Amino acid sequence: MTGYEEALEKLKKYDQEQVFAYYDSLEEAEKKALVEQVNSADFSVLSMLKEQKEVKRGVISPLTETVTLDKIKENEKSYLEAGIKALKEGKVGCVLLAGGMGTRLGSDDPKGMYNIGKTHPLYIFEMQIRNLMDVVNLCGRPIDLFIMTSNKNDEKTRTFFQEHNYFGYDPNYVHFFIQEMAIACDYNGKIFLEDKDSMSMSPNGNGGWFVSLKNAGLLDYVKDKGIQWLNVYAVDNVLQKMADPLFVGATELSGFPVGSKVVAKAAPDEKVGVLCKEDGRPSIVEYYEMTQEMMNAKDENGNYAYNFGVILNYLFRVKELEEIVGRDLPLHIVEKKIGHLDADGQFTKPKEPNGYKFENLVLDMIHMLSDCLAYEVVRDHEFAPIKNKTGVDSVESAQALLEKNGIEL
Ligand code: UTP
Repeated sequence: MTGYEEALEKLKKYDQEQVFAYYDSLEEAEKKALVEQVNSADFSVLSMLKEQKEVKRGVISPLTETVTLDKIKENEKSYLEAGIKALKEGKVGCVLLAGGMGTRLGSDDPKGMYNIGKTHPLYIFEMQIRNLMDVVNLCGRPIDLFIMTSNKNDEKTRTFFQEHNYFGYDPNYVHFFIQEMAIACDYNGKIFLEDKDSMSMSPNGNGGWFVSLKNAGLLDYVKDKGIQWLNVYAVDNVLQKMADPLFVGATELSGFPVGSKVVAKAAPDEKVGVLCKEDGRPSIVEYYEMTQEMMNAKDENGNYAYNFGVILNYLFRVKELEEIVGRDLPLHIVEKKIGHLDADGQFTKPKEPNGYKFENLVLDMIHMLSDCLAYEVVRDHEFAPIKNKTGVDSVESAQALLEKNGIEL
């Protein structure tokens, strides 16, 4: 069977022949590229849409122990000592998740290139580096920074760092790696075309970061360097404190394979994922999965039982990551705005969500591990996410929080 025949058969099997709508008008090289893309893409994800399988949750219960702000204060000295020691010994690396498309923010550039300054330029990437630099200066040695990008933004991201001289960070300690891509489709399950010779592909979610890091050959580097902990965090929280010595110390001393920074919820019905237990293992329940009863449940001290939301800042022990690396993560169907060719063959960028992407999420890795330390941080000091242009979790709200923390914009 030729490559073309193989591709056609696959398209027929999944009822996706629209992908070849312009095939006959393409140049030979374009035909070849499209055939290769079809043959290498994973279409099995489409069957998920048909099945509309609901993810079956296990028995959810509250966390039994959280390192709250009070406990952190009590143990500050020992956490700090342990954390600084681990950092000075080079046991901690950072993983910046920057492969997302930032569709809600709506910029064509990688989110990290967004300028949040008011009177002078201050880029999101720059803020992230500044925060990491604080720890580097404190412990007197560089920290390896692994930056995950996608095919869609890798070149722009690397060029941006080069042009800005890595914002003063030692480039020998910055390592880029590219995540995998997945198909995207409309609400009827039809794969979108991005161009006449290519399907719309999107980064496959932030859950594949460890596999992609490994596939890029960087796990060998991690192990050679003696890095035992990887701190994974989102690009869009501009108050992100990474490689935080107290958090590192607390997690290491707990003996748990992973720690998660959490914030006390602003209200019982706040729209954040909540760290809890599921069948005795750590897990994250999304806000839409919370029942009224769970929202109002109290613990024996009268505090809300499901009170701690995650902020996408996790410290994973590498040893346990290696044990779970081959296991399949659940696939999430996410509604997004997906750029595509319209009926006239013109590329169009929708203003509203118009279809589905398929994503693995880092939070599902938590559930694969035996336990997770919930480590509380002060929301206004550490959580200023930029998701939207205006309103909640926007550039404006993050700017206000930065100013509150004494950052000049
Ligand atoms: P979000 O879930 O907010 O997704 O990412 P996003 O793509 O950035 O933005 P929207 O939903 O399209 O508006 C949370 C973090 O995970 C990273 C993002 O870069 C961000 O740091 N991420 C997300 C990836 O690295 N890869 C992905 O495929 C998705």
